[in-house]
Amino acid sequence: MIPSAHEYHLKGCFAFSAAVVALVLAIAVATTYAAWKSDTAHVAPTGYHGDPDRGKTLIGTYGCPSCHTVGGATPRGQVGPPLDGIASRSYIAGRFANDEIWMTEWLQHPQRLRPGTAMPDLNVGERDARDLAAYLATLR
Ligand code: HEC
Repeated sequence: MIPSAHEYHLKGCFAFSAAVVALVLAIAVATTYAAWKSDTAHVAPTGYHGDPDRGKTLIGTYGCPSCHTVGGATPRGQVGPPLDGIASRSYIAGRFANDEIWMTEWLQHPQRLRPGTAMPDLNVGERDARDLAAYLATLR
C-alpha cells in the first residue's frame, strides 16, 4: 500500500529523531569517557614536560636499576643513591637544584656536570631525559 503524504512525512520524522537521539547518546558517552580518561591518566608533575609513563619504561631500557633502587624495579642496585623519594630531595648529586632543567641535564651528561662521578654517561637523548625526569619527579 502506498503511504499517504502524511504517513510518509511521519516516517521520515521518526527516522530523523532516532538519528538525533543516537547522536546525542554517542556524544554523551564520548564526553564521559574523555572525562574519565583525563582523570585517570598519569599526569606529569607541575613544571615537568615529559611523559612519566614513558619515563618509567625507560628506567628499564637504560638499566638504571643496576645501580639504583627505583620504583620496585629489579635488580635493586646499590651503586648510586636510591631514587625512591628523589622528588623530595633538594639537590641532585648534592649540587644541582632538583628541577626539570638540572635533572634533564644530569641524566644526559653526569660526567660533564660532575667529572669522575661513578654515574656514567648513558647516551640518554633529550626527549628520553625529559620523560625520565618527569617520572623521577613522581617519586616522592
Ligand atoms: C653504573 C651505575 C649507574 C647507572 C647505570 C645509573 N646511575 Fe645514576 N647515579 C649513580 C651514582 C654513583 C650516582 C651518585 C652520583 C654523585 O653523587 O656523584 C648517581 C646519581 C644519580 C642521580 C642523583 C641522585 C641523588 O640523590 O643525588 C639520579 C637522579 C640518577 N643517578 C638517575 C639515574 C637514572 C635515571 C639512570 C638510568 C638512566 C641512572 N641514574 C643510571 C650511578 C649510576
